[in-house]
Amino acid sequence: MANPTKVPFLDLLTPHKQLEDELLAVVRKAFASAGFIGGPMVEEFEREFAQFCEAKYCVGVNSGTDALRFALMAAGIGKGDIVVTVPHTFIATTEAISQAGGQIRFVDIDEQAYTLDPEKLREYIEKHCDLDADNRNVVEHTSGCRVAAVVPLHLYGQMADMDPITDAAAMYNLVVIEDACQAHGAEYFSRRANAWRKAGSISKAAAFSFYPGKNLGACGEGGAITTNDEAITKRMRMLRDHGQANKYYHDIEGYNGRLDSIQAGWLSVKLRHLADWNQGRRALAHRYHQLLAEVKDSVTIPVEAAWTKGVYHLYVVRVSDREALQAALAEAGIGLGIHYPIPLHLQKAYEYLGYPKGAFPVTERVAAEILSLPMFPQLTPEQQNEVVRKVRELVGSKIPAAP
Ligand SMILES: Cc1ncc(COP(=O)(O)O)c(C=O)c1O
Repeated sequence: MANPTKVPFLDLLTPHKQLEDELLAVVRKAFASAGFIGGPMVEEFEREFAQFCEAKYCVGVNSGTDALRFALMAAGIGKGDIVVTVPHTFIATTEAISQAGGQIRFVDIDEQAYTLDPEKLREYIEKHCDLDADNRNVVEHTSGCRVAAVVPLHLYGQMADMDPITDAAAMYNLVVIEDACQAHGAEYFSRRANAWRKAGSISKAAAFSFYPGKNLGACGEGGAITTNDEAITKRMRMLRDHGQANKYYHDIEGYNGRLDSIQAGWLSVKLRHLADWNQGRRALAHRYHQLLAEVKDSVTIPVEAAWTKGVYHLYVVRVSDREALQAALAEAGIGLGIHYPIPLHLQKAYEYLGYPKGAFPVTERVAAEILSLPMFPQLTPEQQNEVVRKVRELVGSKIPAAP
């Protein structure tokens, strides 16, 4: 029998207790106007989040999945278009591609960054595709379909290497839509621009999730898209609201994908704390790095590539005998996660794509060895020591000295 939880994987109680008065004031404000859908609280949050991401526009929606789907649709991805992404992600990334009408194609990840390997993107295009007769679009040999977009994912709060991805996209006329659902506030150093860029400001559009456990989480469902493109902003606003720009004038068919005003108000309250919370996560990650350095031969700690300033949505280590470590930590009452245990190309839902086992060796290796340790801004040094003590104990090292 496992011990009662000593260190949770995630603590959502503490921040909500700390912010309770401000959060309840939002509910009272909404009750005073009974404006529950759209309106000033949504518009205010959209302005604030666009500013936070250093993007011109933000469109609040119902979830990160809607955000990705609407971004792809608004950017012109349609029936049969091929969209390239990675198999090491949550299924929402690929659900959005299929639901926008696209066809999913995978390329493997980089072994250290765990994000889309730009070389593999080029390899896929160069080996499997040709330019069409107008020399404009890239067309896949086997399907004869246009390769229309690429969705890089900023996994665990670390940025994908966007310069070579956007270079390849420009060369092959692909739209880039960032899956930034785990990367609120992450930064990318663009060698090309010689400047740091925020997640959500780099590509055609970027999708964010406000699922409660995210770095910026709603108290329910929520999502947003950021972009610098006015035309697709208008289209996304229509898509989230039954295809209407004016009430009951439906230019297209859309969805019920709106962000409601109480969630938007809560997100505005929390957004004021996001930079500090992200800073706290970075400090905790660096402390984990230091405390685990002594067992680095047995436990691979996350590598922060030179191009990323990560926001550590998750702190993911790699070990060869994951099951043993997982069992021992669970026994000690330490909360854990695996993000994600089964690569998407090996999921039943995607059998029809025909990718065999071994198709994406880096993803498959990583998926078998990763373990997410407790990571949230309120994690105390004592709790962190307890996690590290158990990890080190299991891999045969000494208990860490108190800091
Ligand atoms: C990488 C990634 N993409 C997309 C999503 C979908 O977000 P939501 O759950 O808000 O629809 C998530 C959320 O879990 C995610 O982690």
